[in-house]
Amino acid sequence: MNKGVSLTKLIAGILILVISSLTHAKMTDLDYWLVKQEQAAIEKMMANISPEGTAKGVVIASPEKVTPNYFSHWVRDSALTMDLVVELYKNASGTKKALYRQKLLEFADFSRTNQTAPTISGMGEPKFNVDGTAFSGPWCRPQNDGPALRAITLIHLANVLLDEGESQYVKSKLYDGKIPTDSVIKADLEFVSHHWREANCDLWEETFGHHFYTEMVQRRAMVDGAKLARRLNDKAAAKWYEAQAKELESAILAHWSPEKSIFISTLNPSHNTKQSGLDSSVILALLHGHTNDGFLPYTDKRVIETYKSLVSTFKAIYPINQKSNVPGTAIGRYPEDIYDGDQYKYGNPWVLITAAFARYSKLVAKEYSRKGKKKDAALWAAESEAYFERLRFHANPDGSMSEQMDRYSGYMISARDLTWSYSEFLHAKRER
Ligand code: NOJ
Ligand code: NOJ
Repeated sequence: MNKGVSLTKLIAGILILVISSLTHAKMTDLDYWLVKQEQAAIEKMMANISPEGTAKGVVIASPEKVTPNYFSHWVRDSALTMDLVVELYKNASGTKKALYRQKLLEFADFSRTNQTAPTISGMGEPKFNVDGTAFSGPWCRPQNDGPALRAITLIHLANVLLDEGESQYVKSKLYDGKIPTDSVIKADLEFVSHHWREANCDLWEETFGHHFYTEMVQRRAMVDGAKLARRLNDKAAAKWYEAQAKELESAILAHWSPEKSIFISTLNPSHNTKQSGLDSSVILALLHGHTNDGFLPYTDKRVIETYKSLVSTFKAIYPINQKSNVPGTAIGRYPEDIYDGDQYKYGNPWVLITAAFARYSKLVAKEYSRKGKKKDAALWAAESEAYFERLRFHANPDGSMSEQMDRYSGYMISARDLTWSYSEFLHAKRER
C-alpha cells in the first residue's frame, strides 16, 4: 500500500470517528462501509477521467482493454459521470474545486470536438477513441440518448457557473443562442429537438427502436434546456424546447402496457429477443430523466408496477438472490440478457443498476414521506438499505467495482473499475 493511500485511509477513519461522536448516532457496519466506499469510488472514478495516454476531457468507460475492451470514451457513460463531478465541484473548495473545474471544462471542450468530428452516424455517435477521433468499426448507432445526457450535464454545469458569476464563459462556450451554433449545449439541444422522433439504438447498444429511456432523457434535456434558454434570454428557443418536451410526454406514455402492467422499454424494436418487454432502463430513466415538474413522479403507480415486476423477475433468475444470508436483490439489465462482457453465456446483475435501484427506492421513500405516508416511506427506505447491503456483500475489499456480479458466485466480473458503476453508486450514496 503506498503512502498516499494509507494517509487517505487514516484521514477517512478519523473523519468517521469524528462524525459519529458529533452526531452521537451509532454507526452501523453499513454506515462505515459506505463512508469508506464513497472515498474509494471518488478516487477510482477520478482515475478514469483523462488518464495518461488519453486526450484531455476523455472519460474512459473502464481501464480494461481486452475482455471487454472498454478503453474508450462513451458519450453516455461520460455524461452521467461528469454530472456527478458537477455535484462534487459545487460542494468542494480550494485545490479540489480547481481540479474538478479543470476536468469539467476539459470535458466540455472535448464534447464540442466530438460534435464536430467526422463520424459515421453524426450527433448520435456513441463512442470515441481516446485520441478524440470517432470509433469507426461496426456498432449499434446512432444512440440518441447521448446528446441528451451530454446536454443535461453541461446545463447543470452552466447553471452552477452562472450562479458563480461566469456568464462570459457560459455564453461563449456552452450556450451561445446562435444558429448555426458554436457552443456545445446549443448544438445538442438543437439536435435533440429536431431528431427525437427518429428510431435509434438503445442504451444497451443492442436494439433499434423507440426507447422509454432515451425519450425520458430527451424530454429532460428539453425541459432543462428551455430553462437555461430563458435564463440567457433566448425566448424563442425556450418555447420551442418546451413544445418538444410536451410532445415527448405522449411518446413516453405510449410505452405503458395495460396487459403487462409495465412500461415496455422499446416500441417497434428491430428484433424481438426481449419477449418480456421488461428492462431496468425504465428505472434508470426515472433517475436520469427526472424533472421535478410532476411528470411521472417516482411514486407513479405505473412506474412502481414496473419496478415490482423487475425485482421479482431478477429475484427468480439470479441464484445469488436466493441465498437467505444477504438482503436486497441484485438487479440486471433485462431478463433475457446474455452479455457477460466476454462469451455471452449468461447475463448477470449489474453494480450500477443495483445502485440505481437503491437510489430510486430512497427517492420513493422521500416522496411518500412528503405526502405523509409514513408506513410506505419506511418500507421503501428499508428496501433502499437492502440494496446497499447487497452491494457491500459483493464489493471487493479495496472498493473496486466492476460492471457485473456473477449470477452464481456474486464475484465482480466483466469490465473492471467501470466508471459508471462508481458514479451511479456515488449518486445513490448522496441520496441516502
Ligand atoms: C457491447 C455492448 O457494449 C453491450 O451492451 C452489448 O450487450 C454487447 N456489445 C452485445 O451487443
Ligand atoms: C455496455 C453497456 O450496455 C452500455 O450502456 C455502456 O455504455 C457500455 N457498456 C460502456 O460502459
